[in-house]
Amino acid sequence: MRVYLFVIFTLQCYTSIRAHPKLTIDEFFNATSFQSVSLSPNGRHLLVYTRKPAWDSNSYDNNLWLYETDGSKKELITTQYFAFMEPKWSPSGDWFFYYGNDKVTTNSTDERVRYRHSSNKSLKNQHKIHLYSVTSGELLSIDIGKATPSALTWSDSDSSLYFAAQSTESTEDADRLYEAEWKDVIQYRRRKPNYGSVIQRIDIKRKHGKLSVKIHCIKHLDFIVTELLFVASEHKVVCISYSPIIETLSEIELYAIDFLNTSSLIRLTNSKLFEYNLKLSTDGKHVFFLVYPVRLNNENFLSMQGRLYSIDLTNGQIEQWGKGFQGSVRDYTIRSEGGVFILGQLGTNVHVYTQLSVLENVCLLSGWHGSYRSISSSKSKQYSSVAVTYSSFEQPEEVYFTKHIDELPWAKPLTHENQLLSTRDLPRTKLYRWSNPEDNRTIEGILHYPPGKFEHKNLPLFVLMHGGPTGASLNQLQPSFDTWAPLAATEGWLVLEPNFRGSTGYGDKFIDEVLCEMLSRTGKDILTGVNSLVNDGIVDPTRLNIGGYSFGGFLTNWLITQTTLFSAAVSGAGASELVSMWGTTDFPTYGASFMCGFPWEVTEIYKKESAMNNLNKAQTPILITTGAKETRVPADQSYMLERGLTYLGVPVKLLLFPDEGHAFSSNPWHGKIKVREELKWLAQYDHLRSVGAEDVL
Ligand SMILES: *[C@@H]1O[C@H](CO)[C@@H](O)[C@H](O)[C@H]1NC(C)=O
Ligand SMILES: *[C@@H]1O[C@H](CO)[C@@H](O)[C@H](O)[C@H]1NC(C)=O
Ligand SMILES: *[C@@H]1O[C@H](CO)[C@@H](O)[C@H](O)[C@H]1NC(C)=O
Ligand SMILES: *[C@@H]1O[C@H](CO)[C@@H](O)[C@H](O)[C@H]1NC(C)=O
Ligand SMILES: *[C@@H]1O[C@H](CO)[C@@H](O)[C@H](O)[C@H]1NC(C)=O
Repeated sequence: MRVYLFVIFTLQCYTSIRAHPKLTIDEFFNATSFQSVSLSPNGRHLLVYTRKPAWDSNSYDNNLWLYETDGSKKELITTQYFAFMEPKWSPSGDWFFYYGNDKVTTNSTDERVRYRHSSNKSLKNQHKIHLYSVTSGELLSIDIGKATPSALTWSDSDSSLYFAAQSTESTEDADRLYEAEWKDVIQYRRRKPNYGSVIQRIDIKRKHGKLSVKIHCIKHLDFIVTELLFVASEHKVVCISYSPIIETLSEIELYAIDFLNTSSLIRLTNSKLFEYNLKLSTDGKHVFFLVYPVRLNNENFLSMQGRLYSIDLTNGQIEQWGKGFQGSVRDYTIRSEGGVFILGQLGTNVHVYTQLSVLENVCLLSGWHGSYRSISSSKSKQYSSVAVTYSSFEQPEEVYFTKHIDELPWAKPLTHENQLLSTRDLPRTKLYRWSNPEDNRTIEGILHYPPGKFEHKNLPLFVLMHGGPTGASLNQLQPSFDTWAPLAATEGWLVLEPNFRGSTGYGDKFIDEVLCEMLSRTGKDILTGVNSLVNDGIVDPTRLNIGGYSFGGFLTNWLITQTTLFSAAVSGAGASELVSMWGTTDFPTYGASFMCGFPWEVTEIYKKESAMNNLNKAQTPILITTGAKETRVPADQSYMLERGLTYLGVPVKLLLFPDEGHAFSSNPWHGKIKVREELKWLAQYDHLRSVGAEDVL
């Protein structure tokens, strides 16, 4: 009897394993990603913005969906939604606005256009914003003129909104004069006379079924506005300034316009931080904002991880929320009873936390292990309904809803976009820790085992490194051109995703420790991890491979000049020479802070940390990929690396992806082809290496 049971049991195991088909690259890249969720004030409706590949048209569908949170209904509002402007609910909750439909064809292929004078008045279509009523199903489309809007907010009533648009007042006379003198010559850094934004108010009146719309100009600002927030109790509209090239972080600050006296412009912050995501507190007097993990030298403010702040509009006082929290704040939402809910990354998980007031502690709420990526709450006075997006290693991302935050562990999925992935034979994962002997720091990484080979020994290794350095590899399943560990594991590699020094989620000091050694120290963290896997017998020492995107590409380029240990390398958007990188990137402040100064101040550091200066030591065959329209890590960095390695006779191939910038968001085929070729490259070179005497770490 026992034997019989055992046989049945093993058979069932066998069939259940067989029941999960292998994950394919086509399925992996066909996933839907959730860009934002926004719950209506009464919690009955949810706006979900999704992005899904449209393979036939070489583009993405940007879909805005309206869900009833009881799960009874969903409605597609538009497939042409514009990502940069979040839809927002009106004060009563009857309406929401969105911007979309008429696709804007901006040819700003290079974000540095800001400093160019263009005399070409490409007269675009009228821009429209759309107001949708969830009670009546009515849709109002409002012409807002020829200028592209950049930010939009409701006032305190459903019949009035504020928006910011680029200034367009430049006259054709001025253009003709410029052209007569300069022809098509570009004067770099010369701003157009009309550079900046105009803040305008839309008033909507309806009488006897007739709609009348009036647009008033409120104020001209000499900067670009990315967000607007109306604060009724203080008679203010708060906005964030922005610059396409971030040469100094003081270009990104919070300002307030007093709408009782629009001649004044009040600067609210002088923080030299990268502020974004404005929200108004429950008491209506504090404006919350997030800051990106940015580090600056010799400044009062340091933000090495994502942080949440609020500013008191009655006295200008700025306070930091989540102070005792060691990790990085990724998103937040206002708690209707006061305080906030915070999505905080600690180690490889992103959990939901709550903080009732700035003086109180941050508390972890019960929820699932994995990564909550965005959160939105209702405004009910009794309790907070919340919608979240969530995924983990085993669970592809979906949107979940719960009527009460205390019931988060029982939240119900509202969407079922990616369930196909959970029916596939996904790799099993575990955390792996090692210590860097230089300072005995413990470093953590994620191991993705090939399906059916969990905890097997002597496996071929692929180290996949995240961007940043202030990023992290997480407990999530986010199919993407840069996070494809499950796909590589499916193809047979044991994938290590190391959260090396400089990663968020391990305390501020963990990031501080890469200062002035941005590549050399992180590189050692990774090499000691590889060494540890070899010593533990987990990986085959003759089959070690490496790759990554953005900072992961920097590290790949660096590591192949430090060791001949690796059989194959795949490097995306990686810098190879840091002086030219500093001189051409659109975000020079970020890199310079990790390098501890400008190229003329710390020449030796730039020299020592650049792969290019050690290139003659490289032997590892490398596949290089880059967007052709990169401005973050300009494609020149990849050309330089490719040329150097070609001269040196190292197998190298460069793939350029037209129209793509750093985010690879233009054509879904590009990301898929990139990873397809990277997998091929690894398969081609993985076996070819022979162990040599110089392979000592
Ligand atoms: C992608 O998903 C859609 C459904 O959302 C399906 O119709 C299509 O066949 C899939 N394409 C591929 C290449 O898997
Ligand atoms: C943008 O550039 C493409 C090719 O460079 C061109 O075909 C298109 O007409 C341009 N669009 C506008 C609005 O200038
Ligand atoms: C101005 O734009 C139009 C269409 O967008 C284009 O055909 C024309 O070549 C442009 N002129 C210049 C000088 O760039
Ligand atoms: C409006 O603001 C301006 C600039 O800050 C100030 O000079 C002026 O006195 C203010 N007017 C009133 C009526 O407060
Ligand atoms: C690291 O730990 C080892 C063993 O505990 C010890 O011998 C060594 O001195 C430590 N090194 C540092 C830099 O603390």
